[in-house]
Amino acid sequence: MKKILKIISSVKGAESKSTQLADAVIEKLIVQYPGSTVNVKDLAKEPYEHFHEGHLKVYGGLGEVTPEVIAGVEKASEEAINELMHADIIVIGVPIYNFNIPSTLKAWLDHVMRAGKTFSFASGQKEGLVNNKKVYLAVSSGGIYSEGPMQTYNFAVPYLEASLGFIGITDISTFWAEGCDMPGYKETALQKAIDKVAV
Ligand SMILES: Cc1cc2nc3c(=O)[nH]c(=O)nc-3n(C[C@H](O)[C@H](O)[C@H](O)COP(=O)(O)O)c2cc1C
Repeated sequence: MKKILKIISSVKGAESKSTQLADAVIEKLIVQYPGSTVNVKDLAKEPYEHFHEGHLKVYGGLGEVTPEVIAGVEKASEEAINELMHADIIVIGVPIYNFNIPSTLKAWLDHVMRAGKTFSFASGQKEGLVNNKKVYLAVSSGGIYSEGPMQTYNFAVPYLEASLGFIGITDISTFWAEGCDMPGYKETALQKAIDKVAV
């Protein structure tokens, strides 16, 4: 039995290919680990704030800030970190928007990547504090990035691997439905990706 955190970042609701791919991963996980629970976090419906001056001051303890700002920033960040820490497995649906992850997913990262909470330099070396997690990335894109001229435009997956790796999450598997908006590919893109799902 595992505690699964499912993160949605597509704005397309039930039509979303990245969410459907994430669901295919979760379906297999539940077969593998009967009795698992799934906590769903829909960042498109309930986005975190963009990083602002209040975050800078609260996270870094820099400068004056009102108790209301501290409470708001801490509440959102602590909630996001607690959900992450509580999960054994995190399945993230990632549609490619303008060659990168949706800004809502970036905002979530801005709430969970915190010195002293999810990473530390206390020992003199960077140490990730989010340990023993498995992450599955369920990516969907209009174009093709595994080969051809767009290969060098794959910023999203290396970025997520670097960011999650920074906080200690290095066990990451990626499944990718690509060509979702290209005639000749879009008809089969999602199913081909689902067929490759292995957990
Ligand atoms: C605002 C926006 C920007 C997009 N930018 C890209 C892009 O840079 N590269 C790409 O391959 N597809 C791009 N697409 C297409 C989506 O990645 C594609 O439709 C994908 O399947 C969406 O995932 P979803 O169905 O989970 O929402 C974009 C779509 C939108 C809405």
